[in-house]
Amino acid sequence: MIKPFIAANWKMNKTVGEAVDFANSLRAVLTTTPDRDVVIAPPFTALHAVAASLKGSDIALAAQNMHDAEKGAFTGEISAAMLIDAGCAYVIIGHSERRHIFGEEDEFINKKIISALKHGLKPIFCIGETLEERESGITLDILQRQIGEGLNNISTDDIGSVVVAYEPVWAIGTGKTATPKEAEDAHKFIRACIQMFYDAAVAEKVVIIYGGSVTPDNIGELMAEKDVNGALVGGASLNSESFAKIVNYP
Ligand code: 13P
Repeated sequence: MIKPFIAANWKMNKTVGEAVDFANSLRAVLTTTPDRDVVIAPPFTALHAVAASLKGSDIALAAQNMHDAEKGAFTGEISAAMLIDAGCAYVIIGHSERRHIFGEEDEFINKKIISALKHGLKPIFCIGETLEERESGITLDILQRQIGEGLNNISTDDIGSVVVAYEPVWAIGTGKTATPKEAEDAHKFIRACIQMFYDAAVAEKVVIIYGGSVTPDNIGELMAEKDVNGALVGGASLNSESFAKIVNYP
């Protein structure tokens, strides 16, 4: 049985003060979270301060992106070692906003995943099809390509540290959630791909979470699906009460 994994992706929101206030109030609301993994991903500027606020809690910290290089002339970029230094345990890699707004491709995403794993950071690896791709009937081809290329050269030992986030692009920030069946069909397919690239024992344990207009109202029905192991929450994670409701879904 996989422990439910609920993560907040704040995207480009919250100042340091707002992020620390959120972390403190989330700690107060989530007095016990023994049966769920809870992760928050503030913007880079707030990571260090939020890490201090979360010290001693079960809530883990994630960054929203990283560069694969160790260090050097990459103005505006952040390395895996810097994220570890700031207190992160996870890093979101390949979010559709990175892919579509900033032109990140599978090969670059793969390099980042390899670098994150090398440094002991757990990647939250995002994949998902656009509306156009879904309507053209190529959703599964897209997912298979993104998994195959994104996880290229990742060993069987390392894959257990990767969380896969299925985020259909048409469901992100649109209020249009995938139905539980649409999510389950995609997650089941993702697990089958992992089984094909690795083996059944590995696939059974990989955490596959859903993202795209998750709210306190729809989290329960999504989590009722067999292959949905958690959620990556954008808009509804910006308010600590709403995010706590999602974490504490019945
Ligand atoms: P929303 O929950 O706002 O749709 O965002 C989802 C997302 O992109 C999480 O990474």
